[in-house]
Parts: sequence; C-alpha cells; structure tokens
Amino acid sequence: CGIVGYIGKKEAYPIVIEGLKRLEYRGYDSAGIALYDGSDLKLSKTKGKVADLEDRISSEISTKGTVGIGHTRWATHGVPNDVNSHPHYSNSGDLVIIHNGIIENYESIKKELIKRGYTFKSDTDTEVLINLIEDVKKNEDVKLGKAVQIALNQVVGAYAIAVFDKKKPDEIVVAKLGSPLAIGVGEEEFFIASDASPFLEYTKKAIYLEDEEMAIVRLKKGVKIRKIKNDSLVDPYIQELKINLEQIEKGGYEHFMLKEIHEQPNAIKDTYRGRLRVKEGIIKMAGVDDNLERFLNANRIIVVACGTSWHAGLVAEYIFEDLARIPVEVEYASEFRYRNPVITEKDVVIAISQSGETADTLAAIKLAKSKGAFVFGVCNVVGSSIARETHAGAYTHAGPEIGVASTKAFTTQITVLTLLALKLAKANGNISISEFHKHLTELELIPNKVAEALKADDHIKTVAATYKDAKNCLYLGRGFNFPVALEGALKLKEISYIHAEGYPAAEMKHGPIALIDDQMPVFVIATKKGHYEKVVSNIQEIKSRSGKIIGIVTEGDEDVKELADHVIEVPETLELLTPLLTTIPLQLLSYHIAVMLDKNVDQPRNLAKSVTVE
Ligand code: G6P
Repeated sequence: CGIVGYIGKKEAYPIVIEGLKRLEYRGYDSAGIALYDGSDLKLSKTKGKVADLEDRISSEISTKGTVGIGHTRWATHGVPNDVNSHPHYSNSGDLVIIHNGIIENYESIKKELIKRGYTFKSDTDTEVLINLIEDVKKNEDVKLGKAVQIALNQVVGAYAIAVFDKKKPDEIVVAKLGSPLAIGVGEEEFFIASDASPFLEYTKKAIYLEDEEMAIVRLKKGVKIRKIKNDSLVDPYIQELKINLEQIEKGGYEHFMLKEIHEQPNAIKDTYRGRLRVKEGIIKMAGVDDNLERFLNANRIIVVACGTSWHAGLVAEYIFEDLARIPVEVEYASEFRYRNPVITEKDVVIAISQSGETADTLAAIKLAKSKGAFVFGVCNVVGSSIARETHAGAYTHAGPEIGVASTKAFTTQITVLTLLALKLAKANGNISISEFHKHLTELELIPNKVAEALKADDHIKTVAATYKDAKNCLYLGRGFNFPVALEGALKLKEISYIHAEGYPAAEMKHGPIALIDDQMPVFVIATKKGHYEKVVSNIQEIKSRSGKIIGIVTEGDEDVKELADHVIEVPETLELLTPLLTTIPLQLLSYHIAVMLDKNVDQPRNLAKSVTVE
C-alpha cells in the first residue's frame, strides 16, 4: 500500500491525490483521502484506482483544506471494497488513520475492544488499530502521540501509519515498523509518504524513519522523533535527496526486474505471513479451510496456467504428489480449453496467474466450472478477473510486479502452493506430524536463505559476462528442479533474446546432447539431494563433449565444482523447497546478461505483462 500526507499552507488535496498516483505501483485496488478544512474532517474512499477516487470525490466532499492524508491499497485483510478502503475513522469520528502493513494480532485486540463497546464497519486490521489508539487516549487521558505509542507497543506486525486528530489539527502522528515512511520537510509545511516521490517536486529534504520510530509532525514546532519502545528522543536526520522520480519508484535499483528479484525474501514472507503458524503447528488458509471437503474428495488436481505461472504449476505437481499423494495434471490453459478435456465434478482445478487477467486461463476456468469442477485461484492481483471468477483462492501477496519477466510472482506462487500441499497432506493423513513440523520450520527459514542466495550477485555477474555472447543455452534439472530449468531458460529467452531450452537432465541424451559443443553453455541444477549422483553423471556426459558447465549447487559442494567451469552456490534446504533457492541465481543470470547486451529488461520486445487476448 502507499500512504501520503500533507500539513501546511497549501491546498492539501492536489498534493495528496498526485502523490497517490505516484504510489500506485504499490497497490491500486482501492484509494481514499481524509481532508481537514479548518473546522471539520471529511473522508472519501472507493474501491478501484486513484482515478476512480478523483472522479467521485467532488460529488462527496469539499476538496478544500490544508491538512490531508491519503492511501492507495493493496488488500491484505478484507476484500477490496469501499468500506475496507482507508482512511478509517475511530468510533468517535475524531481520529483518522491510514496504514500500510499488517497487524497480526488484530483479532484478539478486536475482541477486547468489542467487549468495551467498540463497533467495526470494516474487516480491516487498521480499523482495530485506530480504535485501540482511541481507547488508550481516553482511558489513559494522554495526548495523541502518547496514545499511538502505547497502542503500538501492544501490536504485533508491520506498519507505516499516519494518524490525525481533528481536535488537534496542527499535527500528524506517524510511525514505522517494517513498512517504509518518509517525511518531507518544506518551508512551514511537511509531507508524509511511503517514498519520497509524492513530495520531490516540493522539497528535496527528507527524513526517513527507522523501524520502531514514531514522529509527531507539528506545523509550527517541526518534527519530533521517538523510539516507540523505550521512549528515547532521536535527533531527526534530514537528508538532501539527489534522486529523480523514476529512480525512487525503482527503490534505487536500475530496473524493476532487479528490484523485484531482490524483493523476494520479503515477498515470500508476506505470502506466508499469518498463514504459516509454526508454533501452533498449523497452516491457515481461509479459501482452503472453507472448502476442505472439495479438496479431500478430489480424484485429481488439474493445474491450468500460462508462462511462468505454468512452471510454478509444474513445481506444484511434484510437491502435491510427493506430500499429499493427490494425482496432479498440469495444463497449458490455452491447450486445455480447446481440447475437449475430460473434467468431472470430482476434479479440483487450480488456476495460477500473477495478473489474474490472462485470457486463456480465464477461459479454462469457465470451462472447468461449466463441468462442475471446483476451481481454486492463486493470483497476485487482488480483485482481478480470475480472483473473482474462481470459487475460492489464495493471494500470493507479492506486491505489484512491474517487470514483464516474472520473478517474485513465481517464487510466491510456489510458496502458496507448498502451503496448500502441506495443508492437504496433513488433512488427508499423508504426512506425519513430525515431518509436517519439519517442513513448516524450514519454510519459515526460506526468506533468509533467499537473501543468502542473492548475495552471490557479484559472482553471478562475472558468470554472466563469460556467457553473454552465447547463441544457445541449455538448462537442466531433475525432479523438483526440472521446472526450474524450464523457468531459467524462459527468463533468458524473454529478456536477452538468446535461444535457450530447459530439459529434464536425463532426457538430454535423447536429443539435446547432439547440440553440445564448446560453444554451448549448460546450466545444471545439481543440489545435494534430489538425484544428485545422477545429475553428476549427466554433467560428466556434457563435459566429455566439451560443453561449458555452470552448476547451481548446494553450499560447500565439491564434486560438481571439480567438473564444472563455474558453480553458483545456494544454501541447503529440504529437497522439496530447493526450487525457491535455485531459481534465484537463474533470474540474476538472465538479468545481467540482458543488461550487458543492452536489452530493455523491464519491457522486452513483443511481450506484455498481462495477456488479455488469446
Ligand atoms: C505473460 C507474461 C509472463 C506470464 C504469463 C502468464 O506472457 O509475460 O511473464 O508468466 O503472461 O501471466 P499470468 O499473469 O497469468 O501469470
């Protein structure tokens, strides 16, 4: 989500609305604004884009006023609709809040507040937080800043918030933990935003709050920063920004794709946040819990998807069959829909789509529904057509993916599907409790291991430089990593325009081996478990035909190192989870090769992010 705020002498509305447009890359399923016009606090919000808010606002409220806060949302708790949109009022109507992040323990706080007579209009965690702040403010008879501080010490989760009290209209209280928050410092005016893009044209002076810091931003007295936990004062560090708008939206990365590759540790965490509950030993997924019988009675699961999402489906096939012992078929949506496929009421169809708009996938869903199958969606874009068309589903919560070549969508799709497989395996008794726990514990460690794998970036750049002029490349993997080989080859094709093929390592001898000579780089995924010895034999076959070998190996591997021209290491994990790690170096390789070849990484020729035609 994106947040924006203004307090000063100018009209707040144009600043806030333009700021929200700049932050739309952070989410755009609903938007809202609260404005204080000198006597009253007014609020307007809507499902949809910032442009939808703009269309409707003047018919609802006056856009006058010199204080305002606004929000553009990427739904986490509660479907995107008008009521769940931010800002949210407190029960008295005095306080208003915008929030980016997730309050994990909101359910228990909500129960407490309901006991004390609070009522809630929305399903959001945010409305719980603003009422908690109100409750503290009243009961402890403290000022707004103190109330925010006390309340935040009771919540678990991540947030960037801005809170305004109409009885104290010369200040805005902000706080940050986990989600970004910048304060723009102007002449007798202050700006608040998720990044500096909304205020760059007004001021280049910015304060970036650190985690667990809060600030009271006062019109006359300036910015006072405190540590939320121990109450100590922090000297505001005002930076002079030397960046332009586009750089900011890319978070300092040269391309969206690189930014998105590096976002994966957090994206995966966001995917399992609230679902993976290691201590309780459960996986919570509402869309599955509500339809458990449909899953457990399924004769088979049919996955329909296109492109990278189809590769995630292939990984899922291996995982579902291994853990949950449910037969799985993975279909290209475009083939499935026109093949007159056999579908029965006992089938569960899982549709995977980042955009949620892919025409072929949507048509496959409609076909499956017409035959009585239960259709479950795995989408990234909240409220998208596929999310709406499916009977139930689970969002990946990867955040907006802008680079056309899909990266974080893929790893978060695998994360959701792994959660689903584990959940079903537990429900149908195919996994022991101890194995289940082992997988949960290890899955929780994956974001750190992805971060570890990303550290090989410099080394990967050297490897990329060595092979950037290749005309053809081969990608090999077995088992869980066979689909990763396909995805690695697709990434290279998409953005560098080098011809690449992915193959199951053992199939190489039935054809592609004829292509191997000293001009042919072969990327081989050879992690320690997963048919390691067999893959090593495949590597030997390549070596004896003078192929160039780049091994993606487990940390500390010696055998492949001896045979290969280059190795790239990834941390050790359970075999079933290795795709989440082995994918990372292949993404980085493609990225660096494309950059070195001077290709348009974020918008490769002929491709589109969302293919709404068949
Ligand atoms: C396009 C994109 C691919 C994507 C595929 C499926 O071809 O360029 O990156 O994998 O569509 O898209 P979806 O949004 O359904 O996952």
